[in-house]
Amino acid sequence: MFGATQKAALGPRHQRVAHGNRRYRARVVVVGNEKGGAGKSTLAALIAVSMLYRGQRVSVIDLDLRQQSLSRLLANRRRWLPAAGLEAPSPLEYKLVENPAAIADDQPTALRLFEEAMTMALGDSDLVIVDTPGGDTAVSRAAHLQADLIVTPMNDSFVDFDVIGNVDPVTLRLIRPSHYAETILNARAVRAQHNRRLDWVVLRNRLAGGDTNNRERVGQALAALAQDVGFRIGPSLRERVAYREMFPFGLTLADISAGLRPDSVASPKLAARQEVNALLEALGLIVLTPSVEPSARPEAEAEAEAAMAGGL
Ligand SMILES: Nc1ncnc2c1ncn2[C@@H]1O[C@H](COP(=O)(O)OP(=O)(O)OP(=O)(O)O)[C@@H](O)[C@H]1O
Ligand SMILES: [Mg+2]
Repeated sequence: MFGATQKAALGPRHQRVAHGNRRYRARVVVVGNEKGGAGKSTLAALIAVSMLYRGQRVSVIDLDLRQQSLSRLLANRRRWLPAAGLEAPSPLEYKLVENPAAIADDQPTALRLFEEAMTMALGDSDLVIVDTPGGDTAVSRAAHLQADLIVTPMNDSFVDFDVIGNVDPVTLRLIRPSHYAETILNARAVRAQHNRRLDWVVLRNRLAGGDTNNRERVGQALAALAQDVGFRIGPSLRERVAYREMFPFGLTLADISAGLRPDSVASPKLAARQEVNALLEALGLIVLTPSVEPSARPEAEAEAEAAMAGGL
């Protein structure tokens, strides 16, 4: 299930914690960035499905009330799997209402329905994944306040960078946190009053080959900003067809195995699976222990074994 060259256990940041009358409280992961098109919905689906294959009870809430990309992917999944005669685990989805677009402009109603959905999701799951819109809404801010972990994908560009922090063009030091960073710092301060941590991981998405100068400069600026604002930098995801071609089937890279693969989709490269594993580990959701040196065996053999195992 976990790939040929790595074994995984659940990570320390994922261990359940005592909460109120119940023994455990689910962990809440909010995928957020006020910048549109950074990869939030792609990542939310990938994390959710990856953790399902690890036996976790996963719930999702899609707060992008207009686009509903995550919700649409799951609807495709519910249609495609039975039509193909295949089975795969699916997260529980908590929709605020049947037609979320209808309440997108009514934030008080959306807020109330979100709080209700979150209460139910916390009761039903080990992990609650919340996808948020590319913009600032009251309901998205409320979700950030509930997060144990915020995951922020960003494109490898200073345009995306500026949405997290405004930096001095000469020193690359922080001039001021962006509006979005302020939202997270505020959520962190509120949680601290209740002795609750808020971990924030920023990662670069859609990294392309070439582009070394820009990549290096964004990397340096990000490292400086991480210190000033207080986030961790997660491992990057490369630009890969495997992250974007499976939406119509409702699948993610984490689903593809020898037994579960649409005809038109190639088996993802081992490097892609390892990239996802590295990210899940950095997020504290799994712990990897290398079982066999990757270089000691041919990639094809390793990939076949990963596919047989049915997971990442
Ligand atoms: N690593 C990747 N490689 C290739 N394509 C990607 C990758 N990550 C995301 N994409 C593609 O980039 C586009 C934007 O991704 P996505 O919809 O996940 O972003 P988003 O942050 O949720 O956007 P929005 O703010 O509009 O909700 C989509 O077409 C998606 O398939
Ligand atoms: Mg989205």
